[in-house]
Amino acid sequence: MNLQMIVISPSWKEEESQSYEMQRESSFKPVRCLLATMLCAILLVSPVTVFIFGFHISYPQSFFSFNASISHDQFVMPHSLHTDVSHLQIQLGLLLQQLHNESSESKVLLKFSDQVLRIAISLDKLADSIEKKHQPDKDEVSTVDEDFTNPEEGEGEAEEQVPGGTIFTSGEIRIYISPKQNRQIGKKNFLGVEAITPSIGLACARMATNLDRFMSYKTHGTCPDDSEIAQKLLVHGCDPLPRRRCFTKSPPHYTKPLPINFSLWTQPSNANILWNSYKCKDYSCLVSKETKDRRGFFKCSDCFNLLKQAWNTPTNKSESAEFTIDEVLSLKPGEIRIGLDFSPTTGTFAAIMREKNVTIASSTLNLGAPFNEVIALRGLLPLYTSIGSRLPFFDNTLDIIHSTLFLDGWIGAELLQFVLFDWDRVLRPKGLLWIDRFFCHKEDMKLYLDEFKRLGYKPLLWRVVPKTDKLGDELFFSAVLEKPIRG
Ligand SMILES: *[C@@H]1O[C@H](CO)[C@@H](O)[C@H](O)[C@H]1NC(C)=O
Ligand SMILES: *[C@@H]1O[C@H](CO)[C@@H](O)[C@H](O)[C@H]1NC(C)=O
Ligand SMILES: *[C@@H]1O[C@H](CO)[C@@H](O)[C@H](O)[C@H]1NC(C)=O
Ligand SMILES: *[C@@H]1O[C@H](CO)[C@@H](O)[C@H](O)[C@H]1NC(C)=O
Ligand SMILES: *[C@@H]1O[C@H](CO)[C@@H](O)[C@H](O)[C@H]1NC(C)=O
Repeated sequence: MNLQMIVISPSWKEEESQSYEMQRESSFKPVRCLLATMLCAILLVSPVTVFIFGFHISYPQSFFSFNASISHDQFVMPHSLHTDVSHLQIQLGLLLQQLHNESSESKVLLKFSDQVLRIAISLDKLADSIEKKHQPDKDEVSTVDEDFTNPEEGEGEAEEQVPGGTIFTSGEIRIYISPKQNRQIGKKNFLGVEAITPSIGLACARMATNLDRFMSYKTHGTCPDDSEIAQKLLVHGCDPLPRRRCFTKSPPHYTKPLPINFSLWTQPSNANILWNSYKCKDYSCLVSKETKDRRGFFKCSDCFNLLKQAWNTPTNKSESAEFTIDEVLSLKPGEIRIGLDFSPTTGTFAAIMREKNVTIASSTLNLGAPFNEVIALRGLLPLYTSIGSRLPFFDNTLDIIHSTLFLDGWIGAELLQFVLFDWDRVLRPKGLLWIDRFFCHKEDMKLYLDEFKRLGYKPLLWRVVPKTDKLGDELFFSAVLEKPIRG
């Protein structure tokens, strides 16, 4: 297998500019002088970037055509849209000017300026890319046929062309993302639409070359064995990934799974896992102490030892931040039936909960080892989702969300908020949010606790204890919080 197929360049992470990146990284302690400099810079650029667009601007069909009846390659962008974009740019410019004039040092204001600045930068880029890519004098050919001279992502143009241009060269991805009309053209289906538009993540456009490779296969043939690449794309925001029209390989000697009363705590058969993507090539490597340094994963390193049943033993309250499952379930006897475990896990939490007749989906990526495969082989429900995506559950539906080993001091406040609000969305009123051993540096704890408190949940269990395995400047935080009924 060609491991070089994908090059995860660090610049995938660069969203706007270097200075923007610095700003983002320092979001906990906003650097005022930096912001001021940036505001000045944007003031020079933003209000004056009023683009006068031509009338006949062509767009590749695949991104912009929503009308199923458009059959040619291009259509004309309405003039009003150009005017709207220019108008927005001017308004944002004025807003930034006002903010810049404001002499207050307040944190709220700084944060707010930061947000406005980001919007301004994005808007300018969008306008810029529209103008650059679709100058009427450029060429009348759809940009999908352009040959990119820069095949590796990471530098230059390819990365800039985010939403507007179709930058994929693979025929299959272009076929996939183009709207799929109903058989009777123009007639709506039961969903009330005339066409289904298959979806991909916005960041896929930034990784066009890699995505093109991912979509290079023989239709109706066997898929390349590239689950590792698929996951890299997901983690970098190409989520959802496009669907493919090829057949995924199976483990060649797959045997039927064990019966459920046996499978929960029994090591699955080597033959039922496709090992190609992992450093370990058999199950014993996943659990052996000897392979510990070279087995390709570190999060949840004891996970694959299915004999270890955590949570069942009560712990010393002043030393451990662990609650037992019984302790938590007894908060709402009989009420907790379905839920989600958002953790790097092989399903042990879900297995214990299953024995208590609670159905838990376990959301985890395959962090260098077959996490999802093992969850499934245990007879539990794996949910292969990335941190960056919205949960595939409807609002107010789950009784409990449990998370351990996932949230800790690496996470920024903004991402944490998007995660927590999504969890809040899917939890039912009076549902439980169980944060299990969140850890971070002592000085950051207040900041994180504030984020949890801002949800307005009722704390049913709450514990902060020192984390003793490191040098003592870290804390563990665990809590079981109850979602309020919101009117
Ligand atoms: C889509 O095309 C149909 C048929 O050509 C036309 O009647 C309709 O107005 C178009 N819809 C839009 C939104 O342009
Ligand atoms: C900002 O201040 C400058 C001078 O200090 C002034 O000319 C300008 O009109 C002010 N802008 C806004 C939007 O208040
Ligand atoms: C598992 O369940 C089957 C039938 O449902 C039963 O015959 C068997 O004894 C059970 N095995 C164990 C280990 O509980
Ligand atoms: C719990 O830990 C504290 C602090 O280490 C210790 O003083 C106490 O005796 C322990 N309690 C039990 C029941 O082990
Ligand atoms: C789970 O459900 C089964 C079947 O309804 C029942 O026999 C068992 O006692 C339940 N277990 C628990 C822990 O509630």
